[in-house]
Amino acid sequence: MKYMGSKQALLKNGLGKLLFEQSYYADRIVDLFCGSSAVSWFIAEHTTKPVLAVDLQSYATCLAESVIGRTQPIDYAQALAVWIDTARRASKHSIVWRDISLLTRAYKGEEFVSSARALCQDKKGTGLMWRAYGGHYFSPAQSAKLDFLMRHLPDEPCLHNVCLAALIIAASRCAASPGHTAQPFQPTQRSIKFIFEAWDRDPFSESQNALQMLCGRHANAKGETLIADAVEVAKQLKRHDLVFVDPPYSDVHYSRFYHVLETIARGKCGPITGVGRYPPYEERPQSDFSLKSRASNAVKQLLNSLASAGARVVLTFPKNECSNGLSGESVIEIAREWFHIVENAVDSRFSTLGGNNSYRAARLKAHELILLMEPM
Ligand SMILES: C[S@@+](CC[C@H](N)C(=O)[O-])C[C@H]1O[C@@H](n2cnc3c(N)ncnc32)[C@H](O)[C@@H]1O
Repeated sequence: MKYMGSKQALLKNGLGKLLFEQSYYADRIVDLFCGSSAVSWFIAEHTTKPVLAVDLQSYATCLAESVIGRTQPIDYAQALAVWIDTARRASKHSIVWRDISLLTRAYKGEEFVSSARALCQDKKGTGLMWRAYGGHYFSPAQSAKLDFLMRHLPDEPCLHNVCLAALIIAASRCAASPGHTAQPFQPTQRSIKFIFEAWDRDPFSESQNALQMLCGRHANAKGETLIADAVEVAKQLKRHDLVFVDPPYSDVHYSRFYHVLETIARGKCGPITGVGRYPPYEERPQSDFSLKSRASNAVKQLLNSLASAGARVVLTFPKNECSNGLSGESVIEIAREWFHIVENAVDSRFSTLGGNNSYRAARLKAHELILLMEPM
């Protein structure tokens, strides 16, 4: 899944190797800003240590839980039957298909988009996705299918979680927006093709693909997830925890970028406003790491707590100054008060971990620092 700041690529470029090696000395690995869960999944599948995955947002911990929360694969055929096949069958009887087929016959191009928006606003439709996002992030047909998939999520907790994670991934693939859901594409001459490209994706097939991918994956040791502030969780950690720290570097809150996924994870949202179809402010978790005036202090508090706990830390941060006012260099300056920075590595095609000799050269080409830090 596309996720701003995902470490999927970095895992193959030094980060995975470093985490794998360092996990040997730890009882547990803590992913304090788990996001897309790429790192939590990697650790859970490649090591024998349990993972604690933390994020402010529930879609992120739902994604993490879907793999780190179990030690056995799930029967894909059974999951498909109890969830997607049931939702598909139930959707066939909906009266919305008549309105949708009239719309499809009557309008083309830009007109189709405005009529789709009007349809989803005027008619009661199928539920939350229709009401909140129909004609904007999703076509009326996609919204209806997403509503049926949501309504027919299985009850059994573990299966429910895996299916919900598959739905989150499917929705992120179908959304007519640029890699996040801060705003949907608008039907301008330039963007309309992107809307139809996204609206052509079928939520049932996308959910099926995501479900198949998730069912086969599992942790080697059962982990846990927490929807919580990393700064607070850091105060509870222990000496034998290896902590992965990948905080936000943008001055725009993640909750603005991924509110559609959060609505799906929560199964509800308050009144929607604005072009971005945002839920009320109180429903969008705010992070000190995304406030220029507070980001530096948030990093200080976090690293101070981790050092007091005596935990080893692997931290990634862009080298250059970011919009929240922090840079890799300023994070190093803060960390030096409590940590030995044992290894500096960088994300670059030519870099290798360790080796101070390669550090200087690689730094010039690189954008993302990978730091291994030991408390003093
Ligand atoms: C750079 S992303 C992490 C990306 C992740 N490592 C991955 O590979 O996808 C930062 C994440 O931190 C979360 N976040 C922001 N502030 C937080 C806080 N105070 N505590 C916990 N999570 C937070 C955001 O919701 C976002 O998912």
